[in-house]
Amino acid sequence: MSSSSTDTFDIGRAQLPPDTVAIVTGAAEGLGKSFAEGLLEKGAKGVCIADVNEPLGLKTVQEFSDHFGGGRVIFVKCDVTSASEVEAVFAKTKEKYGAINLMVNNAGIVNEKDMALTINVNVTGVAYGTYTAIKYMSPAEGGKGGKIINIASVAGLLLFHGPVPRPKDFVCS
Ligand SMILES: NC(=O)c1ccc[n+]([C@@H]2O[C@H](COP(=O)([O-])OP(=O)(O)OC[C@H]3O[C@@H](n4cnc5c(N)ncnc54)[C@H](O)[C@@H]3O)[C@@H](O)[C@H]2O)c1
Repeated sequence: MSSSSTDTFDIGRAQLPPDTVAIVTGAAEGLGKSFAEGLLEKGAKGVCIADVNEPLGLKTVQEFSDHFGGGRVIFVKCDVTSASEVEAVFAKTKEKYGAINLMVNNAGIVNEKDMALTINVNVTGVAYGTYTAIKYMSPAEGGKGGKIINIASVAGLLLFHGPVPRPKDFVCS
């Protein structure tokens, strides 16, 4: 069956449901900041920027408030490796906007000199974000459902050929 042009999804013109409330971790800068900006552009009711970098997070919130109008974006300082700080992000976002229905686990680092920290941020942090989101979104817990997006890299899916570059001071303990 052929599809007519009216079936085409136009992402450029698409808007989010007006009750969209999102948390984006690691959104003070980089890709997370762009995701937060895109959500605001597409009509999200509220976006929480959850990041360990407080000065930059506050600067980003100011920038977005100036552009999109105050009240639609907040900053909550959060290290995603701390379950209690992740919980506080959800509690403060819920207090400000009501139900949360979109979680973007974006915070991620590459630190070959500190493997434990890298795994803590990239794996444990995503697990805390995911399980806390389920707790807040689950209808069984009084939530209204929602979506969780985990940001990753094609580096985790593709095979890279050739020698792996190792810094002279590479330490694996
Ligand atoms: N940039 C790329 O080319 C690329 C490619 C593939 C995947 N990714 C993934 O996209 C995500 C974002 O990457 P990016 O390049 O924008 O990174 P970035 O370094 O530009 O920004 C990362 C943000 O995360 C914050 N952050 C770091 N540790 C944190 C912690 N413990 N708790 C809370 N926030 C913390 C930083 O303060 C910063 O604001 C990562 O998960 C990364 O793996 C990036």
